Amino acid sequence: MALDKQIIETLLDAAKKAMAQAHAPYSDFAVGAAVMYDDGSIELGCNVENASFGATMCAERTAINAGVVRGKTNLTAICVTNMTDTMITPCGICRQVIWEFSKDAPVICSNKDGAYKILTIAELLPHAFDLD
Ligand code: THU
Repeated sequence: MALDKQIIETLLDAAKKAMAQAHAPYSDFAVGAAVMYDDGSIELGCNVENASFGATMCAERTAINAGVVRGKTNLTAICVTNMTDTMITPCGICRQVIWEFSKDAPVICSNKDGAYKILTIAELLPHAFDLD
């Protein structure tokens, strides 16, 4: 799916706003995510760390889970941003979770200045796990 430039800008802006809410006192690495759905709506997520490090939730999954509780599962695009120069890509667990809700979603991977690259979830997670 080719992404409209305006949609990209909207998602970059939303992810940046979400990043400002990050709870990252242990890594000091703030991440923000914005997920778009087939109805055009957007859910936001930030990373939420915990003193028990394994309980940490990534920004992408925070956003996706927020959508699920609102009944939104038709994910059409996801954007992730962070506070460094690197255009970070979602971690392995987040890739599998994105795959659960879309097999062709574009993933906008951005840095602190809004520079981005777009990869599909199939490119990021070839040979994904499926039960069928
Ligand atoms: N993090 C995310 O939020 N998303 C990713 O895809 C990679 C990592 C968070 C988890 C942790 O709070 C911090 O970044 C450092 O790993």
